[in-house]
Amino acid sequence: MTSYKGARRTAAMEGGGFYNKNSAMQAAGISALLPLWERLIADVELDGGPLVIADYGSSQGRNSLAPIAIAIDRLRARTRPEMPIEVVHTDLPSNDYSALFETIQSDPASYLRANVFPSAIGRSYFDPIIPPDRVHLGWNSWTMQWLGAVTINAPDQFFPSFSKSEDVITALRQVQAADWRRFLEARSIELKRGARMLTGFPGRTSEGSGWEWLAQEIWGVIVDLGREGVLSEDEQFRLTVPTAPRLLDDIYEPFRDGVFSGLEIVSAGLIQVADPVWDAFERSGDATALASSHANMMRAFSGPTVSEVLADRQDREVVVNEIYERLALRLALSARPHQPYLAAVGLRKL
Ligand SMILES: C[S@@+](CC[C@H](N)C(=O)[O-])C[C@H]1O[C@@H](n2cnc3c(N)ncnc32)[C@H](O)[C@@H]1O
Repeated sequence: MTSYKGARRTAAMEGGGFYNKNSAMQAAGISALLPLWERLIADVELDGGPLVIADYGSSQGRNSLAPIAIAIDRLRARTRPEMPIEVVHTDLPSNDYSALFETIQSDPASYLRANVFPSAIGRSYFDPIIPPDRVHLGWNSWTMQWLGAVTINAPDQFFPSFSKSEDVITALRQVQAADWRRFLEARSIELKRGARMLTGFPGRTSEGSGWEWLAQEIWGVIVDLGREGVLSEDEQFRLTVPTAPRLLDDIYEPFRDGVFSGLEIVSAGLIQVADPVWDAFERSGDATALASSHANMMRAFSGPTVSEVLADRQDREVVVNEIYERLALRLALSARPHQPYLAAVGLRKL
């Protein structure tokens, strides 16, 4: 494997615990992944321990607490109550690890129990980052939409998958296919024989991904700011968040012969994630609250990329704030449920 070291540095999530506080949509998706997770935990082949659970792309950790707690409790029920368990969280070097450790230590929903040993690794998961044959259970939620090694700029969209440019779409599909293979190959080295792994990331059908509303409104903000002379043409071009959803066909592609790199798919499907704030909006009619929740969710994952693109500007903070404030205003005027597709993939290491 050639190393991705030195490749484009993907910006991690908005720091200061902001992602933890503004990722209810991702948490709603995770709730929908839990039945598959429980099946994988029930089937994983166990040895005498210590058992190792890896959480790939943990960000600040809050959304990992529930799945990891379930895994610890179920694995102990299958073995012994004090079974030592290592929990290895991984993310990019720029991740907010203070927020992660603070969450593990202090959040009332933390999985921390006697004989549970958390640690963290700050390296991209497109290379092996845990020694071979170590991991019994792998968890990976809402990360594989991030492209691995290149920057793809779309001239006409914030999310490149909505671009009308054939060049952009072709490049995107090539990078996504390579990323998926590379992620699987690296995990295959780390997973023990009989291990199970769940990966859940934005999916799409041939009709769409469910991100159409948010994509259209944030691009509308960027076009407005361009028209007003706040953003240059070059900035508009580079304001592209390197993320994209996958089709089920993309997921199955490396597994055409059933097995890829010693891994087998035990389950793959698309889930439509429920909008976590829509019911409250229907009860209250408060479009501002709905809009602010979605705008903050967008900022939590895309804000650092936007900041990086505008890094040379003295007024960077003002412009970044302006982008997400205007997004909230537009969302309030066009309120509707945000119900994106989430691909849920269960894997077995042979
Ligand atoms: C939207 S957050 C998901 C966090 C959490 N797993 C959840 O479900 O809420 C995406 C995370 O993936 C991480 N990420 C993106 N590319 C990565 C890579 N190549 N290696 C490791 N982590 C990566 C980001 O830094 C970010 O923390």
